[in-house]
Amino acid sequence: MPLLSGKVAVVTASTQGIGLAIARRLALDGAQVVISSRKQANVDRALEELHAEGLTISGIVCHVGKREDREEAWDKTFEVNVKAVFLLTKLVVPHMEQRGRGSIVLVGSIAGYRPFPTIGPYGVSKTALLGLTKVLADELAPANIRVNCLAPGLITQFSSALWSDDSFRRRFEAAITLRRTGEPEDCAGVVSFLCSRDAAYITGETITVAGGFHCRL
Ligand SMILES: NC(=O)c1ccc[n+]([C@@H]2O[C@H](COP(=O)([O-])OP(=O)(O)OC[C@H]3O[C@@H](n4cnc5c(N)ncnc54)[C@H](OP(=O)(O)O)[C@@H]3O)[C@@H](O)[C@H]2O)c1
Repeated sequence: MPLLSGKVAVVTASTQGIGLAIARRLALDGAQVVISSRKQANVDRALEELHAEGLTISGIVCHVGKREDREEAWDKTFEVNVKAVFLLTKLVVPHMEQRGRGSIVLVGSIAGYRPFPTIGPYGVSKTALLGLTKVLADELAPANIRVNCLAPGLITQFSSALWSDDSFRRRFEAAITLRRTGEPEDCAGVVSFLCSRDAAYITGETITVAGGFHCRL
């Protein structure tokens, strides 16, 4: 019996990168997966790729922030990274309550543990997710819903503001214990584990996937 058989996985922001790798892995592990992102073309491309691999996955368009006309980087960052996470959790919880169980994995960042130059608000929003993970874990435990968080390190060069600074990049890469940047798949297996019965006694935790980069005790 596959590890996640009988489970439904809703993976948001998942048409490329870490989200896509997580969706693929959860499907390979037996879950029924729904992917989504802002653009129909990206959803279609990702579905085509996954279907060609023999995976039965469905997809929809879902912009997790929605309010299009925000101007401030701070508002946008918090709207997408924190508020949308909370609101999406509220939407999915009733379905989990109906099933009598559930597992939610938020995607944080090592930037939530320590600051990085030029992406301050992003880091603060990810720090908020560390707290949100614990609050939700406490609130949802009575419904048999576990809530954990994944904190990736340098997986893809997602922040051009940060990685266009050559000297910063070299110093960061030198500080990675495993001496390589990560792959989206390095994150995917951890999410599958957190969703599985092997993690039945784990909630309110954040697991860093950062090649040993030191960001907390
Ligand atoms: N990559 C890293 O090194 C790294 C390190 C630490 C933490 N993280 C965290 O890991 C997560 C994924 O990062 P990634 O590098 O895999 O990202 P990515 O490769 O840029 O992929 C982002 C995905 O999210 C979708 N998306 C973006 N904004 C969205 C929105 N408002 N609503 C719905 N979907 C949206 C994109 O598709 P559309 O454009 O079609 O919407 C795409 O599928 C993020 O939370 C990031 O903060 C990444």
